[in-house]
Amino acid sequence: MALKVGIIGMRGIGNQHVDAHMNDELSDLVAVCDVVKERADEVAEKHSLKAYYSLKDMLADNPDLDVVDVTTGGFENGSWHYEPAMEAMDAGKHVLVEKPLSNDVNEARQMVKLAAEKKVYLGCNLNHYFTPPAEKAREYMDEGKIGELVYCLHKMGFSAGEATYQPPTGSRLVGFPYAHLKAFLSHPFSVMRYFCGDVTHIQAFVDRPGFRKSASDVMLSTVSCNVRFANGAVGYLLSQRGDATYGLGGWWSLEVAGTKGTFCIENCIEKVTYWPAPSPEAAGSAENPTGGSDAGPIVTDTGITDFGATFPRRIHAFMEDVSNKVPLESLRANGRDALAALEYTWAVIESYEQGGAMVRPHPLPPVHGDPATLLE
Ligand SMILES: NC(=O)c1ccc[n+]([C@@H]2O[C@H](COP(=O)([O-])OP(=O)(O)OC[C@H]3O[C@@H](n4cnc5c(N)ncnc54)[C@H](O)[C@@H]3O)[C@@H](O)[C@H]2O)c1
Repeated sequence: MALKVGIIGMRGIGNQHVDAHMNDELSDLVAVCDVVKERADEVAEKHSLKAYYSLKDMLADNPDLDVVDVTTGGFENGSWHYEPAMEAMDAGKHVLVEKPLSNDVNEARQMVKLAAEKKVYLGCNLNHYFTPPAEKAREYMDEGKIGELVYCLHKMGFSAGEATYQPPTGSRLVGFPYAHLKAFLSHPFSVMRYFCGDVTHIQAFVDRPGFRKSASDVMLSTVSCNVRFANGAVGYLLSQRGDATYGLGGWWSLEVAGTKGTFCIENCIEKVTYWPAPSPEAAGSAENPTGGSDAGPIVTDTGITDFGATFPRRIHAFMEDVSNKVPLESLRANGRDALAALEYTWAVIESYEQGGAMVRPHPLPPVHGDPATLLE
């Protein structure tokens, strides 16, 4: 049976969530909420839903809600996640929250703690790896076709340049030097961690180009970050927010290489290419550094170019996990996963503030499992 859903935060992203739930057989969307009355009313009228202007009223009027989907924004696109998420979890509801978990890592830690205490699902919309290319890449890894991980290279951000720059307006981002880091890095860090595991060391250089400086725009928009994974592999993340145009791989590229093969995802949802490691005859050497793959590359092109297609896929995965009552710690893209990405973001900030020093990210809360559901 479909689960009853209420959404709080009815603007651009909230409306994408509405469409996803309306088209998902696992969701029974019944209520929408926004502090700005017209925004809630408009969506409610369009889809014959109940409109609310406070979460308190939405919860009181719909005691049988199973899931509260939090698509509010706030400063740095995240200061209005904590309160509604905490209020909904406190009321015993499962929560899906937009990224970042919060624009404050202490709040994010409390959110993960409360979800564990209340034994409710806390998921985060880390939609970037709920794609056919990511599934295919994961298959390569699970089938042993990548082998021991060696390196991970990730570029993600907005492609643009000096000519298209518009100094930011509005209170969400203006005056916040770390807004790009806090609002955006959850995506690339969660993708890197999904494929390569926990990160133990971070070192970052962070800056912004001259055109931002001359416009008195304080937002640090270019991030160059070295990481070491717990499994010993090394990684590199380059993220920038419209300062330059990305070349190979487009706005979103991820290359993960191992001892048995390499994959590269381009433009998030569009394409994945796999190169099996070459035979001895085809391997690169000092004499012939190029070498080459005897059986590759193998290209899987999805034909999907719309990034928006990631939203219904991720939301469906959340609804599926909640419907199937998976163990709390097995929820895909759960609160702890989103917290990991934020801890790495805070390590980037710390590294920057220390002039590029190497930083160990704050440890994650341990996973104990629920004794009531652990198998013998
Ligand atoms: N996953 C992705 O790919 C992706 C992409 C873009 C943005 N986002 C995230 O989605 C979120 C929403 O983005 P947006 O651009 O739609 O934000 P927005 O600020 O334009 O809209 C948020 C809406 O929530 C309402 N709101 C805020 N606090 C509220 C509260 N306490 N109670 C009721 N309503 C409240 C506001 O009135 C507003 O209508 C942000 O956190 C952003 O980081 C995610």
